[in-house]
Amino acid sequence: MDTVLTKELSRIYQNGAAEVKAVDSVDLTIESGEFAVLAGPSGSGKSTLLNLIGGLDRPTAGTVHLSGELLNEKTDDELTRARLFKIGFIFQAYNLIPVLTAYENVQFILQIQGIPDSQHADRIMPLLQELGLDGLEHRRPSELSGGQQQRVAVARAIVGRPSIILADEPTANLDSESAVNLLNMMHRLNLEQKVTFLFSSHDQRVIDIAQRIISLRDGKICDDIRKN
Ligand SMILES: Nc1ncnc2c1ncn2[C@@H]1O[C@H](COP(=O)(O)OP(=O)(O)OP(=O)(O)O)[C@@H](O)[C@H]1O
Ligand SMILES: [Mg+2]
Repeated sequence: MDTVLTKELSRIYQNGAAEVKAVDSVDLTIESGEFAVLAGPSGSGKSTLLNLIGGLDRPTAGTVHLSGELLNEKTDDELTRARLFKIGFIFQAYNLIPVLTAYENVQFILQIQGIPDSQHADRIMPLLQELGLDGLEHRRPSELSGGQQQRVAVARAIVGRPSIILADEPTANLDSESAVNLLNMMHRLNLEQKVTFLFSSHDQRVIDIAQRIISLRDGKICDDIRKN
């Protein structure tokens, strides 16, 4: 099944008399299991499109289906619930909770999903290990490097078993080597656990790791390349 399906999706901002078509009639399908990047210059609409797909913003026109469910018709409460169970978010600025340890930051998602405590460790520990964070589970974010914090954020995004992980410039605050490292780990999770990823990036080294490169310009898809 398609994980994401957008039809004539638009988001128009009104800046005084001027209209900005941040996302302009986009038809996009992301299949289950894809590892895709949104590329394109600053202002091309990458963040706006990710926010629409993730239900963080509502379209001016058009539709978004997420694993077959139409997001447009949902109330704010229903959208919050859909986000909790279907989408994992990774942000540029990590957004970890400072007073919680690495383990607790990941566990938080399972708690709000209502997963019994007895299952938490079995879900969290292998993931932290896979991401090279074993031994660091009791550290708070301030005691971790940027790359380590972002790997905790990846674990947090994936632990709830969402249908898709959306990441807006997840490597923007990392040095080039940590960025490539993080992407390779995300790619391995994509291959091993069949998690679908859609992320945005400016960094050509990061873009090159994606299996599909969707290029945006002025809110429209101008190129869509799948590698074999
Ligand atoms: N809240 C807003 N109000 C008005 N215009 C906005 C708003 N948010 C974004 N825009 C405009 O919409 C367009 C797309 O912005 P968007 O943030 O999606 O681009 P982007 O591709 O993510 O850029 P970057 O690479 O710099 O993050 C830009 O022209 C931007 O100025
Ligand atoms: Mg952006």
